[in-house]
Amino acid sequence: MKQYFKIDEWRIIEEGFNPEENKVAESVCSIGNGHMGQRANFEESYSGDTLQGSYMAGVYYPDKTRVGWWKNGYPEYFAKVLNSINWIGIDIKVDGETLDLAKCKILDFTRILNMKEGYLHRTFTAELPSGKTVKVDAKRFVSIARKEIGAIRYSITPVNFSGKLEITAYLDGDVKNEDSNYDEKFWDEVSKNVSSGEASLVVSTKKLDFHVCSTMKFDIVQVGRKINVTADTIEKEKYVSNTVVLLCSKGEETVIYKYTSNVTSRDHEKSELINVSKAALLKAYELGFEALLEEQANAWADKWKESDIVIEGDSSAQQGIRFNIFQLNQTYTGKDERLNIGPKGFTGEKYGGSTYWDTEAYCIPFYLATADEDVARNLLIYRYKHLEKAKENAKKLGFSKGALYPMVTMNGEECHNEWEITFEEIHRNGAIAYAIYNYVNYTGDKAYLGEYGFEVLSEISRFWEERVHFAVPKGKYVMHGVTGPNEYDNNVNNNWYTNRIAAWTLDYTIEVMNYLKEKEPARFEELNAKLQIKDEEIAKWKDIVANMYYPEDKELGIYLQQDNYLDKEQILVKDLDPKNLPLNQNWSWDRILRSCFIKQADVLQGLYFLEHLYDDETIRRNFEFYEPRTVHESSLSPCVHSILAAKLGMQEKAYEMYLRTSRLDLDNYNNDTEDGCHTTSMAGTWMSVVHGFGGMRVRNGQLQLNPFIPGHWNSFSYKVMFRGALLKINVTSENLIVSNESENAITLSVHGSTYTVSGNETLNIAC
Ligand code: BGC
Repeated sequence: MKQYFKIDEWRIIEEGFNPEENKVAESVCSIGNGHMGQRANFEESYSGDTLQGSYMAGVYYPDKTRVGWWKNGYPEYFAKVLNSINWIGIDIKVDGETLDLAKCKILDFTRILNMKEGYLHRTFTAELPSGKTVKVDAKRFVSIARKEIGAIRYSITPVNFSGKLEITAYLDGDVKNEDSNYDEKFWDEVSKNVSSGEASLVVSTKKLDFHVCSTMKFDIVQVGRKINVTADTIEKEKYVSNTVVLLCSKGEETVIYKYTSNVTSRDHEKSELINVSKAALLKAYELGFEALLEEQANAWADKWKESDIVIEGDSSAQQGIRFNIFQLNQTYTGKDERLNIGPKGFTGEKYGGSTYWDTEAYCIPFYLATADEDVARNLLIYRYKHLEKAKENAKKLGFSKGALYPMVTMNGEECHNEWEITFEEIHRNGAIAYAIYNYVNYTGDKAYLGEYGFEVLSEISRFWEERVHFAVPKGKYVMHGVTGPNEYDNNVNNNWYTNRIAAWTLDYTIEVMNYLKEKEPARFEELNAKLQIKDEEIAKWKDIVANMYYPEDKELGIYLQQDNYLDKEQILVKDLDPKNLPLNQNWSWDRILRSCFIKQADVLQGLYFLEHLYDDETIRRNFEFYEPRTVHESSLSPCVHSILAAKLGMQEKAYEMYLRTSRLDLDNYNNDTEDGCHTTSMAGTWMSVVHGFGGMRVRNGQLQLNPFIPGHWNSFSYKVMFRGALLKINVTSENLIVSNESENAITLSVHGSTYTVSGNETLNIAC
C-alpha cells in the first residue's frame, strides 16, 4: 500500500505527473452530480495511458453476452453504462504543435479534487518538444444545482515565447467502451449543428435508442478582456468543433470558458432534446463561470451540512471519510427513482454501472441517515418497479411463483452470467427484503409497507418457499446448491446466511401481513385481491420459519458457513505466506474454492444484519472464528468486520478494519482503482464510523448510541437525520455532545440511559 495523494482534509492532491498513476488519479478525482459523471481525464489531447469516461446516468447498452459455455437461463446481454459524448475536450496547438502531456517535459503538475466546493483543478507547466513552454490552469465541475451543466475554465499562458495559439473546443460522440464485448462502438449520429461559438451534437445508442444531446458555447478572454473571434467550424461523423486561432504574447494569459449542457431522452422527448439542452446552456452561459462555481460551492455546502464527518487528530482518516462521502453524494442524489448506485459509481466502466445487492446491504443506511427520507425510499421503489421482472426471472429459472431479483441489473432484468452467481447467489433476495425492514425501522414510515413493501416481501417469500426443500433424514428444510456472500465457496449446501435470511424474510413477511390486516385492513384486502396469498402458503411459510435447518458446530459454538465448511483444511490467514495474497491474483480458482479462506463477511454478514436477534457471546464466538479466515478481497468486507468488532468492544480490531476500508481507493489498496472507485463500499466506510465507532442503532423507534473513540483520534463528529431531526453527534474522550440542529425534540439513548434533546438544544453527556 502506498500513499500517492497528499493528505489534506478537504482536497485530494496529486503533485507531479506520474503516467503510471494516471488512470488511478482519473478515477479518484472523478466528478459527478447524480445525472452525469466524468473521470478526471485531461481536456487537451493525451496520447498516454488513459481511460476516457463521460457517463450519463441510466444510459446503457445491452451488450450481447460473451461466455465460454452457454448455460440455459443465462441472460442474453450484460448492461453497460456507456462512455458517452466527450464534452470536456479542448485541444491546444502552440505554433502548430499539439499540447500532449505524454510528449512534453512536465515542469510542474497538480491535479486536485476540491471536495468542499465540488470541482476539479489541474495546473501544469509543460515544455513542448520544440522547447516552447506553457502554463495551464484548468478548473471544471458538473453542477449540482443545474444537473445538465458542465463548465470549464481553461487558462493557458506562454512562458518563454510569443506565438500562435490554436484552441479547438469540441463535442465528440465517436467514443467507445473499453469493456465492449465485441469491440463495437455503441453510438450512432442523429444530428449535429455547428456555427462560430456554439455547437450541438445528438447521438443515439444502438439497440435501445437512448438519445443524448450535448450543446456547447464558449468565450475567450485575453488579458482580462473578452474577445470577439470568428471560429472555424469542423464537422465529422459524431463530432463537432470550433477552432480559434489567436496570437498570444509571452506571459499573457488566454482563458477559454467552455459551457456544455448534456441531456438525454430518459428525461425529455427526443424531438425536444436540442431545445431543452440549449435553453439550459444559455442560462448557464449568461450566468458565467464564476457565478456557476459559487452556486456549486453553496450546493456542496448544503450537502456537507447534512452528511459531514469531522475527525480531529487524524488528517489521513479525515480525508478518507470525506472522500467516501463526497463520491457517494456525487453518484446518487435520490432525485430520480429510476436510477441506482453502480459499484463503481461514475468513475469507470467495471461492473457495467449496474445495480447489485450492494445498494440494499450497504448504501441504504448511508442515504437513510444523511439525506431526506425520500432518497432511501426511492431506492426501495426502484426495486418495487422491478418486481414484475423479478417474477419473470424466477419463472425463467423454472420456479412456478415468486420473485428472484437479479444479481446485476439495469432495468430489472438479470445481466450476470456466471452460473454459480447468477443462479446460486440468491441471498441477494434477502438483502432486498432486509432493506425494507431497515428503512421502516429507521424512518418509522410504516405506510411504505402497505404502499409497496408488502408486495415485494410476499413475492420474495414465495420464492424462498419454493427454493427450500424438506430433507426427510434431517426433518428440516434445507437449501442446496447456493453461493453465499463469500464467493470463494460455490455451489454449497445450506449456506447459513442464505438459510437464515430466507427464514427471516418469511417471518418478517408474516409480521407485516399481520400488521396490515390489523392496521390497514382495507389496503390489505386490496393487496390480497392482487396477490392471492392462500392460507396454505402462510402455513408453509410458518413451517419453514420453525423448521429451517441451520448448520452449526455446538462444540465451537458457531454457525457453519455451509454444511461442509469444517471439513475444509483449516488454515488462518496469518499463517499464510503474505506472498499468496491477494489470493485472487495468485491462486488458481480451483485452489481458492477448496480452501477455507473467505472473501467477504458471510456468517458475519447475517449476524450484522440480525444482531438484534443474537446475544453478544454468540456474535463474539463467530467473529473470533471467521475473522482470522477472512481475506477481505471484496471491498464490502472490512466494514462489516469493523462494525462487529466495535460492538464487541474489540477497539483495535475495529480500527484496523476501518483503515482497510476508509482509504481503499485513495491508497489503491487492492491495486485496481484504475478501473474506477469502489463506490458502494464507501457507504460501508461511513457505516464503520457511525454504526461502528459511533455505535448508532435504531431499536423500537429510538436512536441508540454506544460510542468510543478509535485509534489516536482526539474526537469525531457526524451528522444524522432521524425522524425530522438533524443531529450533530460529537464524540470526545470525555463526553458526547448532541446538538439538535432542527426544531424537533428527540429522545435518544446513550450507553443505555435515555435523554431528550429539544429543538436547537445541545446536550453534553459525560461518558
Ligand atoms: C462481491 C459482491 C458484490 C460485487 C459488486 C463482488 O466482488 O463479492 O458481493 O456485489 O463485487 O460490488
